[in-house]
Amino acid sequence: MSDQDLETRAPSTAAANRLATEAGRRRTFAVISHPDAGKSTLTEALVLHARIITQAGAIHGKAGRRSTVSDWMEMEQARGISITSTALQFPYHSPEGQDCVINLLDTPGHADFSEDTYRVLSAVDCAVMLIDAAKGLEPQTLKLFQVCKHRGLPILTVINKWDRPGRHALELLDEIQERIGLKPTPLTWPVGIAGDFKGVLDRRTGNFIRFTRTAGGATAAPEEHIAPEQAHDAAGIDWDNAVEECELLSADDADHDQEAFLQGVTTPVLFTSAALNFGVNQLLDNLTRLAPPPSGQADVDGNVRPVDAPFSAFVFKVQAGMDSAHRDRIAYARVCSGTFERGDVLTHAATGKPFVTKYAQSVFGQQRSTLDNAWPGDVIGLANAAALRPGDTLFRDVPVQFPPIPSFSPAYFSVARGTDPSKHKQFRKGIEQLEQEGVVQVLRSDRRGEQAPVLAAVGPLQFEVTSHRMATEFNAPISLESLPYTVARAVDPEDAPFVDRQVSTEVLTRTDGVMLALFTTKWRLQGFCEDNPTVTLRPLVAAGDD
Ligand code: G4P
Repeated sequence: MSDQDLETRAPSTAAANRLATEAGRRRTFAVISHPDAGKSTLTEALVLHARIITQAGAIHGKAGRRSTVSDWMEMEQARGISITSTALQFPYHSPEGQDCVINLLDTPGHADFSEDTYRVLSAVDCAVMLIDAAKGLEPQTLKLFQVCKHRGLPILTVINKWDRPGRHALELLDEIQERIGLKPTPLTWPVGIAGDFKGVLDRRTGNFIRFTRTAGGATAAPEEHIAPEQAHDAAGIDWDNAVEECELLSADDADHDQEAFLQGVTTPVLFTSAALNFGVNQLLDNLTRLAPPPSGQADVDGNVRPVDAPFSAFVFKVQAGMDSAHRDRIAYARVCSGTFERGDVLTHAATGKPFVTKYAQSVFGQQRSTLDNAWPGDVIGLANAAALRPGDTLFRDVPVQFPPIPSFSPAYFSVARGTDPSKHKQFRKGIEQLEQEGVVQVLRSDRRGEQAPVLAAVGPLQFEVTSHRMATEFNAPISLESLPYTVARAVDPEDAPFVDRQVSTEVLTRTDGVMLALFTTKWRLQGFCEDNPTVTLRPLVAAGDD
């Protein structure tokens, strides 16, 4: 090999090694939970344990806690980490010597849902299902779980609030198995019933990990690792019970199996008290040990683009009007392959046009900081991204087109009308724009006409956002008239006129050309199917339990 060969090959080998290392140490996940299960508290505890911050109280963005956000921003700049309401990134060095970068993507914790929540799940490699020990599986956890299942995401389960009276651990496992069909394989087992949390039995080592409370749970809880022989002296009957229950688990084959976990057949389970910082170390360690690093992404034709291919990413969320000082739109893209450097000129697959990334950001909100590099698994915020839509692909050098993010089955429908007839043009432009951003789905029919499209949403919050933005951003206030439908099914064009003639049923066309038959209740839909077995109605991707 000539010297010149060596010179040209050496840097690319180094770059390839760096890429493999960086991708391999990323863990990109989201927490799915019902509001109040402790997601914000857990997020804060995770960061605390990653030793980025030393005092809790910095991340909560809820009312009454906002003052802490600015402290956080300063901290962020000082330490070079990033928090956004979309993605939180921090380094973590595990006791087993793994040097990881955690990307924790936020699924908004509203009591209400929007499609954004679901789109975020298209950008992660693993989900943590957070359950309140007293409440078990709750409706929104179940809905989000459906989406994870649809995507084949591995799920790690965390049973939280074990410091409070709650249900029996075995009963909670039964509920998981029965209601969602995942076999729970506990990694730790609580020592002490819910409400009397002394520590956990680590099923891998057999040790008793004893936790000690700190004032208000504000610092990482000290933990002692006690060998099984001494554990009875340390925890008495609670230890004996834990050992006995773990024997039952092993007899029932409820032991961790990495393959089964990655295939979405089993779910490893951990017990925590996020508020007391108990069990959070174990969550971080197991996430870094078990959750998969980014892997190749299949394109529209099913060919996998490996992580070491030239840069590619897909947009999973577009956010506008975040901050009155920055009235542009930010598109959030998950890096699938290659290395990103700010300033790179990428290609927007949908239009074939170049996309300049001078304004790449790792943060939005009141403050933004620039992002210089990103690797597979990371999230980049792209400002001035008027052309980007959820699901769009960006690439460099070798073209690729990832499949669109599925639209979810809407459950709420409202007719939108402009309240000011002179704003007809703005009305059309606004509706079109919001649809393209994925804020709402828009359905049309000849009968209703262009002036009165039907907006369809997964959660009513999407209507509020639409209404607000139509008035403030597009200067075209709207009125919304809600329709009594709750279930949608795709219908073939040849059956559409027949379905449309039925009482309490209507067929409308979505912009992607899919014809949707809307029914008032699932019982009515069921009745229709029984009476008309020759009509094919196909379920859309369900984001709920319809
Ligand atoms: P969310 O983001 O999932 O909506 O939940 P969040 O963390 O805000 O927690 C909801 C409530 O549950 C909070 O109480 C929080 O302190 C409490 N919590 C979270 N994890 C635990 C836990 O492990 N044990 C116990 N006992 N409580 C927990 P709050 O009264 O609503 O707010 P705050 O005044 O405590 O902040």
